[in-house]
Parts: sequence; C-alpha cells; structure tokens
Amino acid sequence: MPSEIERHTRFDHLRYAQCWEDADILLAALAVQPHHTCLSIASGGENTLALLSRGPQRVMAVDLSPAQIACLELKVEAFRCLSYPEMLTLLGARNPEVRSQEVRSQEVRSQGSQRTLGSLRSQFYQRCRQDLSPQAREFWDGRPGAIAQGILHSGKFERYLALFRRWVLPLVHSSATWQPILKGLSPTEREDWYANQWDGWRWQWLFRAFFSRFTLGRLGTDPEFLRYGDQSLADHLLGRTRYALTTLDPAQNPYLQWIVLGHYDTVLPYALRPENFDAIRQNLDRLEWHTTSLEDFLAQNDHPIDRFNLSNVFEYMSESHFQTVLNTLHQHAAPRAKMAFWNRLSDRTCAANNPHWQPLVGLAAQLHQRDQVFFYKRFMVVQTPAPLAPEGDPSNPTSSFLRP
Ligand SMILES: C[S@@+](CC[C@H](N)C(=O)[O-])C[C@H]1O[C@@H](n2cnc3c(N)ncnc32)[C@H](O)[C@@H]1O
Repeated sequence: MPSEIERHTRFDHLRYAQCWEDADILLAALAVQPHHTCLSIASGGENTLALLSRGPQRVMAVDLSPAQIACLELKVEAFRCLSYPEMLTLLGARNPEVRSQEVRSQEVRSQGSQRTLGSLRSQFYQRCRQDLSPQAREFWDGRPGAIAQGILHSGKFERYLALFRRWVLPLVHSSATWQPILKGLSPTEREDWYANQWDGWRWQWLFRAFFSRFTLGRLGTDPEFLRYGDQSLADHLLGRTRYALTTLDPAQNPYLQWIVLGHYDTVLPYALRPENFDAIRQNLDRLEWHTTSLEDFLAQNDHPIDRFNLSNVFEYMSESHFQTVLNTLHQHAAPRAKMAFWNRLSDRTCAANNPHWQPLVGLAAQLHQRDQVFFYKRFMVVQTPAPLAPEGDPSNPTSSFLRP
C-alpha cells in the first residue's frame, strides 16, 4: 500500500530538524513498559529517543524521508559518542553566548586556545561521523554549514520560524515587550499582558499573513502537508498562540522559547534534558530505523507492536486512506496496544464505536490541555479493546496479531 504523500512531495531535504510534537504528553499517553515494542515516526528524532528513555525492548523508527532518518542517525551518534554538553553544543540547543562551562573548559584543555563554535561543532561531528551509515554520512558531509550552525536550526520549518523571529516579530513588538512573559508571570498577569501589551491589529495582521496556508505551505513545510482540513490555518494558529501565551506558561515551554529566541532557554524538550541523557544513551542498541513509509513498513513487519507514536501523519492522508491504514495498524497491534497521534487542522479521529481502536477521550483531552506544542487542535490516544473471549489459545498474548 503506497503512501499518498510520497506521490506528491519531495523528501530529499530536511524539513524538520526537531520534533514539533510535545514529548511529555506523548510519554504520558503511551506509558511505555520494558516489554514493549514501539513504532515511532522519526521526524526530527527527539521523540523516538524519548521513548528509548523508558527502556522498551525495541523501538522501530520509520520515516519516508532519508533526510529525516539522517537527522535521527546523527542525534543517535551524538548521544553515543559525545558527553551531554558536547551533544547540546553539536545540536545548537543553547544560546551560543552562554556555552556550558564543561565544553568551554574542555575546549581550552584540548586546543590551548579558544576556537569558534562552528569549528568546535565540526570537530564533534567528526567524532560522530565514523559510525553513521554511508547515506547519513553523505547527507551531513554535504552540509558543513548546517553542522557549524547547529543541526537543530537546519530544517526548512526551523528556517521558517527564524524568518518569523528575525523579520516579522520585530515589526510588531520589541524584545522588551516579550521578555517578561518568558521570565514567568502568573496566569492573571499573562492575561493582562496579552490584552494590554501584546494583542492588536498589527500582531493579528502580520501573524495572519505569515502563518497563512499559502505562506506556511510554501516556505515552512509543503503545500501538500496542508491539503486537508477546511478551517483557516491562520485563525486556528492565532487562537492556539493566545492559549500558549496565556493559559500555558511560556517560562515552562521549550518549544515556544525556541520560536521566540532561536534556542532553548529555561527548559529543554524531554530528550535533551540532562536527567534523561544516560537512560537514552544506555538503550540506543534497542533502536532501529527504516527509510520507508509507515504503510510499506507495516506490510513487511511481522512483529506485534505495543506502542505507536504516529506524529500527525494521518493529516497527510485522505479519510479513506486513513481508515485503511487504521485497519492495517490494528492487524499489527499487540493486545492492549496504544497509539498516539495529533490533528492540526483536519479531523482524523476514531469514532467511539470503532471496533479496532477505542479512543481514550478523557486522557487525550487532559493531555491536550497541557500540550506545549500548541499548533494542534486535537491529541488522540487510542487503544485496542481487550478481547471479549480469547481467540485460540487464551494464554497466547499475540492471539489478536495479524487478525484478518
Ligand atoms: C507528519 S510530519 C509532521 C511534522 C509536524 N508535526 C508538523 O505538523 O509540521 C513528521 C514526519 O512524518 C513523515 N511522514 C509523513 N507521512 C509519512 C508516512 N506515511 N510514512 C512515514 N513517514 C511519514 C515526514 O517525512 C516527517 O518527517
């Protein structure tokens, strides 16, 4: 079953240098256990690494883009070959002005003099490069500028956000206006700040122009990625941005901090937090990756899957193709399997009476309320129903696997 999106879109360049889905709610939804096999859309890589931190038996990452798989591969080698501060430096996660003390002192020890951050990154890349696959090595060898800049900046989507930060935001507000909200305000103070200092015709007008379907589709992702869903993208994003600036706390939101500052400030996404580094590193040998579509991967897979992280891939499919893929996923699901995915604009949901996947409505709604990546209108968590009567041998835990 070929993927619809493959037929219309090019996948030779890096679109997402980071995962733009909240790893904290993903982990809370999936409750990964040590005996689990997980299937994860690779995208920028962080959320697949986040799953590894829970020590599952196996994580299979898939993406139909070779560039996204190269991105995951380099992050895997960064976790394997570098120290924690070196890994953050290679990625370009932190403010370049405030390099970590550890990296700076190592730099002085090893070089005897201060090197530029770009050459330090290419030195770290050389340490990771030898263990990359030939494809990933060729990809990153051909992009020395992306390595020097920090790879988290190098996706088409991140470059689009940088355009917003450099050219659009300053036309609306100076940094003095948004600094207080990143330092931490109470919910009432945030509402007051939004109404009296932030909102206005200039903000609304420029935001709508920059985040229209036309502009985001061409400059930020791909027009095909925004094909489904009737709602105005700009209206949707404007409402969700208000939510992220007022109901949620920007001082606790790494994704919002990246958009405004171009680096993480007081918080990092789950996979990049210091307390998760060792757990991810220890489990890297449980991770495998495949450059293929979800649909083709499932056609070749013969291992029951317990947990699925499916990003918002269903938004790139027609409703009928989505239903076909849902059925295929069920055929490959272990008993009590769980799947998490997002909807940004279109309605790719599971009805309450779906015989294969039961929505966990309360859990998903509760997690959506604290979704720090605020672009989405819905978070879905669904589970295969417990079999009423065991089929065949009741002691066989895979009795529902590959059910016709
Ligand atoms: C679905 S995109 C979404 C990224 C982000 N959440 C957004 O909305 O812009 C994440 C990744 O899914 C991959 N992808 C899309 N459809 C796929 C499919 N059918 N099989 C495998 N990967 C797919 C893309 O290449 C991309 O790297």
